[in-house]
Amino acid sequence: MSGEVHVIAHPLVQHKLTLMRRVETSTAKFRALLREISMLLAYEVTRDLPIKREKIQTPLATMEAPVLAPDKKMVVVSIMRAGQGILDGILELIPSARVGHIGLYRDPRTLAIIEYYFKVPYDVIERDVLVVDPMIATGNTAIAAVNRLKQVGPRSIRFVCLLAAPEGVQQFHRQHADVPLYTAAIDEHLDNHGYIIPGLGDAGDRLFGTS
Ligand code: URA
Repeated sequence: MSGEVHVIAHPLVQHKLTLMRRVETSTAKFRALLREISMLLAYEVTRDLPIKREKIQTPLATMEAPVLAPDKKMVVVSIMRAGQGILDGILELIPSARVGHIGLYRDPRTLAIIEYYFKVPYDVIERDVLVVDPMIATGNTAIAAVNRLKQVGPRSIRFVCLLAAPEGVQQFHRQHADVPLYTAAIDEHLDNHGYIIPGLGDAGDRLFGTS
């Protein structure tokens, strides 16, 4: 069984992604663009949020108006460190969301994924989780993050990224076919160093200016 993949083909998303890919785009501009794209991705990923009707008074009349159902509580879980860029954008749109963090790195000797930080809200079991990381390259980090989150058992999990490699998407859904993936684009392939081609380089370095 393969999982759901949503490629957000909206022209604004695609235009902003192209600006982010450009090698000459500055750190400040890259950061601003990631925030803007993340808001647009959040708009798509929350398209099916349930609403309820609430009686309100406008200046002219009363009406039964739609509001978000209060039991639909969300957590945005950022994979450190580049996930921060997407997290910031999503929180602008959904300020009431709670936040979790997962820190993972690859041991250069064994290539195993090691967790160095994990903190999520105590009531995550009653919440819907959006896991965020700009890049799904090999898929190994995304798989490890979702494995860990499944141990604490949130109500649902969705994964939001900016760019993915086809190899990573396939690998991710081989392990987690139940987790829908939202991305702005799926690129051509991975190079021998695990970079997405054509990609945009190292998302963390471009976001924080550390290259
Ligand atoms: N992580 C990145 O930041 N960039 C890639 O191309 C692959 C993984």
